[in-house]
Amino acid sequence: MEINRLLKIGVDKIKDRPYSNPVLEAVLVLGELLNVDKTYIYTHGEEKVPQPLVDRFLELMDKRKEGYPIQYLINKREFMGLDFYVEEGVLIPRQDTEILVEYVLDYIDEKYGDSPINILDLGIGSGAISLSLAYYRKNATVYGVDIHDTPLKVANINKERFRLDNVKLYKGDLFEGIEGLGLEGKFHIIASNPPYIARKDIDSLQREVKDYEPIEALYGGEDGLDYYRRIIPDSKKYLREEGLLVLEIGFDQGKDVVHMMEEEGFKEVKVIKDLQGLDRVVSGIKVKELD
Ligand SMILES: C[S@@+](CC[C@H](N)C(=O)[O-])C[C@H]1O[C@@H](n2cnc3c(N)ncnc32)[C@H](O)[C@@H]1O
Repeated sequence: MEINRLLKIGVDKIKDRPYSNPVLEAVLVLGELLNVDKTYIYTHGEEKVPQPLVDRFLELMDKRKEGYPIQYLINKREFMGLDFYVEEGVLIPRQDTEILVEYVLDYIDEKYGDSPINILDLGIGSGAISLSLAYYRKNATVYGVDIHDTPLKVANINKERFRLDNVKLYKGDLFEGIEGLGLEGKFHIIASNPPYIARKDIDSLQREVKDYEPIEALYGGEDGLDYYRRIIPDSKKYLREEGLLVLEIGFDQGKDVVHMMEEEGFKEVKVIKDLQGLDRVVSGIKVKELD
């Protein structure tokens, strides 16, 4: 069957899905299968597609019709200008998280310039935060921890893909992942985008997220704040004096997380908003006299 005809059948299958861009998605999936880019697909409409690939394409379009995320279908998600490999079992990086990464990149430039620094990322997922920081700031040595195997596997694939030798990845439960490495008091920056969805909000997530993305990357306990309750106090042991703790949060968690950080003695605690004007990141500095 020719590319054009096949695309039309694919688009018809997925055109009623909410949150989708049927033509672009069908083009991306077919491009991935044929190992060619979008432009090739648009300019070679009369070319024949081998039958096994026709069958595979239609299978994938049926999956997409059921809400399976396009990023898992094509094993790709662009984040901070980098093409991350993703697969089922790992959170698809969100554009909102670029707010945190950009904030940290600017902070590094202002405060540390080209001096060597250590960064820790808790809950690496595909490596969105840790690997983009390591990619764009070669003076940083970035440590990353995740408790699950798939994120570690995927982040390692991405680490190889971006040829990063300034990243070290560990398996473990938050700070336990780097216990025994002598890194107490060594981090200039600790960053995390932990699971933060509250129980009451899980059901209202869109189908792509709720049915297919890993729940352990999303669920943050009854009120969504469980991870902040652990990360904020424990981070003081691993941050240097004047080290920065920076956390992604849900849009309605700013007040609570600011309060937690202030209670733990952090200074200059502030909320950074996303492009929609919603609270997205909280940051604060560890003060000298903390334990
Ligand atoms: C919201 S995702 C963030 C992934 C990635 N940093 C990003 O921004 O796309 C949270 C990640 O934390 C990991 N995680 C959950 N509980 C953890 C724990 N106790 N210790 C370490 N990682 C954990 C999950 O496996 C998941 O990869």
